[in-house]
Amino acid sequence: MQFRAVKGMNDILPNEVGRWHRLEGEFRSLVALYGYQEVRTPLLEHTDLFARSIGETTDVVEKEMFTFERSRESLTLRPEGTAGAARAYVAHKQHGREPVSRWYYLGPMFRAEQPQRGRYRQFHQAGCEVFGDRGPLVDAEMIDMLCTYLRRLGISGIEVSVNSIGGAGAREAYRERLLDFLRPRAGSLSPHARDRLEVNPLRVLDSKDERDQAAARDAPSILEVLEDEDRAHWEGLCASLDVLGIAYTVDPRLVRGLDYYTGTLFELNATSGDLGAQNTLVGGGRYDSMIETLGGPSVSAIGFAMGLERILLAMPDDTPASVPRCYVAPIGAPAQHASLLLARELRAAGVTVDLDGRGNSLRSMLRRADAIGARLCLVLGDSELEAGIVQVKDLGQHTQDRVDRGQVVDRVARLVATGSRQIATQPSGDEP
Ligand code: HAM
Repeated sequence: MQFRAVKGMNDILPNEVGRWHRLEGEFRSLVALYGYQEVRTPLLEHTDLFARSIGETTDVVEKEMFTFERSRESLTLRPEGTAGAARAYVAHKQHGREPVSRWYYLGPMFRAEQPQRGRYRQFHQAGCEVFGDRGPLVDAEMIDMLCTYLRRLGISGIEVSVNSIGGAGAREAYRERLLDFLRPRAGSLSPHARDRLEVNPLRVLDSKDERDQAAARDAPSILEVLEDEDRAHWEGLCASLDVLGIAYTVDPRLVRGLDYYTGTLFELNATSGDLGAQNTLVGGGRYDSMIETLGGPSVSAIGFAMGLERILLAMPDDTPASVPRCYVAPIGAPAQHASLLLARELRAAGVTVDLDGRGNSLRSMLRRADAIGARLCLVLGDSELEAGIVQVKDLGQHTQDRVDRGQVVDRVARLVATGSRQIATQPSGDEP
């Protein structure tokens, strides 16, 4: 019987992993420049954490969580990283250690969505969370950092959308206005939106159902009901984005699908690459009341997360150049043992080595060395052992050289480091 991976969960094979390393490496080095430090939280959390923070009437909590019971506890595979980071922040009393904490994370998240291009059940996010900075400078810096990141990866056609959903007062006022607008249109909403209308009317605005989108098209803008403090923050954000020269669109219908947001909201989309319908690369915003909701003090927070599978779809397909490799091809048992030691010395000198221990013919070993794109092939058999040399074949230049065993590690390390495919000395021409 053959097993398949679970629906919506993908293997990442070694030939694909180079691109993952590239985007993860760029992310780590860029966020380090902004003072972010990595946090690693468990993949499993108590279900209540997500219900409380993300919201009972969100799609994620209502329909998409992988939840199970174990020892009478309800546990859930994390659908996102913010709730776990905030829980850890409160649990470790991080607010008592420093006034501002800048955290980042990378890792798998789980949502039981209908899989399609750019949407999976296990997917990977890279995200940042800042605790203890009310902004709006930090909000703008975050968006600027994201634009830099996407550009560094060669992603073009980046579109930034921003909105503010204000504080509790503004949201309450907006809720009433939105309900007044939507109630007469309730008949044309999707059944799901109709059921949730009174409980969570904001969700109608980010529904993917065409009926809901049509009904909400002329809905009032939340920006109209912002209170003074919200407005000052919002204007501060727009002014900072202008200073940074970031082109953005104000989208008053941007509410995002998680209930914890307060104030600033943003999304980054891209038109480059092969994204299809799922073209939101990054989503984020402020969640100034979550730390208190989770039992901590009043600490403001802002963050974002991006879907790494989507970033990969948007990135140009310039696979990073592979590390130059050196193939070691021994002929006969004594040479195999000698090769073990030679390979160890080469690796200690920083050379990537494939040792062929299969006992195959020289011809087939050379074919394999060529196939994997090795730069050099080191051949040694009984006669080389006796003469105290190694045959060094340059597979790019089609040259070869007999190199003293005592010098071969140095020579190979230098050739690989300089990127040269040429053996320095005269080709000997004698095929072993
Ligand atoms: P989110 O909008 O739910 O926000 O997800 C952020 C990003 O994760 C999306 O823009 C998308 O790129 C990716 N993503 C989400 N679901 C999937 C999926 N099923 N398959 C592939 N990619 C997906 C959050 O998760 C918030 N925690 C962001 C945040 C951090 N807000 C404040 N801090």
